[in-house]
Amino acid sequence: MATYRIRHCEQLSGECSIHAAKNAVLPILCAALMTKEPVTIERVPQLTDVDTLLEILAECGAGISRNGDELTLWTDEPHSPSSENLLSRMRASVLVMGPLLARTGYARVALPGGCAIGQRPIDLHIKGMQALGAQAQLTPGSVTLEGELRGGNVYLDFPSVGATENIILAACLARGSTRIENAAKEPEIIDLCSCLNDMGAKISGGGTGTIFIEGRTSLHGCTYRPIPDRIEAGTILCAAAMTEGSVLVRGIRPDHMRAVLFKLMETGVTLRESAAGLRVSGRGTNPIQVRTLAYPGFPTDMQAPMMALALKLRGTSVFLETVFENRFMHAREMARLGANIRIEDRIALVTGGRTLAGAAVSSTDLRGGAAMMLAGLAAEGETLLQDPQGHIARGYADLPAMLRSLGADVAVTDLPDISIHG
Ligand code: UD1
Repeated sequence: MATYRIRHCEQLSGECSIHAAKNAVLPILCAALMTKEPVTIERVPQLTDVDTLLEILAECGAGISRNGDELTLWTDEPHSPSSENLLSRMRASVLVMGPLLARTGYARVALPGGCAIGQRPIDLHIKGMQALGAQAQLTPGSVTLEGELRGGNVYLDFPSVGATENIILAACLARGSTRIENAAKEPEIIDLCSCLNDMGAKISGGGTGTIFIEGRTSLHGCTYRPIPDRIEAGTILCAAAMTEGSVLVRGIRPDHMRAVLFKLMETGVTLRESAAGLRVSGRGTNPIQVRTLAYPGFPTDMQAPMMALALKLRGTSVFLETVFENRFMHAREMARLGANIRIEDRIALVTGGRTLAGAAVSSTDLRGGAAMMLAGLAAEGETLLQDPQGHIARGYADLPAMLRSLGADVAVTDLPDISIHG
């Protein structure tokens, strides 16, 4: 079981580099199912979510070769995966639906898993495929889609990231043109569109609320380098802002994370952009108000790391979570360290500035787990963070090592499972 031992840290300093974005890499790996030709993806981060998706893609017929951090995939004859167990392990696995349906006229996928941060239905994905002419059949635990795809008009009731991606993927090989309205605008959507366009697709409007796709009869291979991870970058910036010091984050795209950067500046830290990267100096002190929204609003994935920072701010910070209904699970763990957090439905009131004491805590989900690692830095003494489901390694390519390179004392231990919930 993954257990992290985190010691109190007053100061982080030095520099670190950001990996490629998990949420860009996963859909781009699925895009590789769209062609027989080899698709090479550069700088693929070492994440267990990537490993799981590769197992799923192999089950879908993809050949995979690895050369360092470069992956090449090719898929002569794609088919639906047989193992439901694998798909239920990660949410992004649902993104094989669009490519399989588009290439073979048939897709059967198990209902996806992932963090238990909300209900996370896939109705918008299915409605999108139906708008492109697919017939859908829902059975308990899985969905089957069938039909030759043609272009269509799709309006998304909510700008879902995954649904936008799945529909884009499917529409690239549909007959005729597709228009997606109220599409998600996240940078990872633009990245998927860029990769698909490099594969010969014809997509415009990526990154805006209306995306147009002209279907092609086939796509070809390409070599692609995904964008840096704005959530990993934001997590490191929050860690730096919790402690006094000066950290240079390299390989960052500040234009992808304006909402986070403005909140950080409101806490009182200094941010300086240069050709080398983004430098954060000083310690945050002023409380903040955060409301999670679809991009370009404040990302829900940054809510937990920002709450860790709020533990150190003087006064009461307010967090309103509007994207997922069950995304404050980390608050209970923070309370074990002595944090003063009151939850009322989708609002969390965090009164910071208290002295926190190290304790045994759990990683509740991917971003919540990372937030607990940060909270451990703020707590006096030693914190033992148990992560039996390996949430943190799903989405961070060695967060302890990144923090250590900045001077933190974070170790992965082999401690046996200890019961911490009385
Ligand atoms: C993606 C990200 C995840 C991030 C989330 C929101 C990946 C691999 N994951 O997840 O890190 O937290 O965007 O920025 O990119 N919804 C429906 N029906 C659907 C689809 C979604 O009701 O068919 C709802 C969800 O329950 C949720 C909201 O829409 O309340 C946002 O979900 P969505 O944008 O789809 O998130 P994911 O693509 O799952």
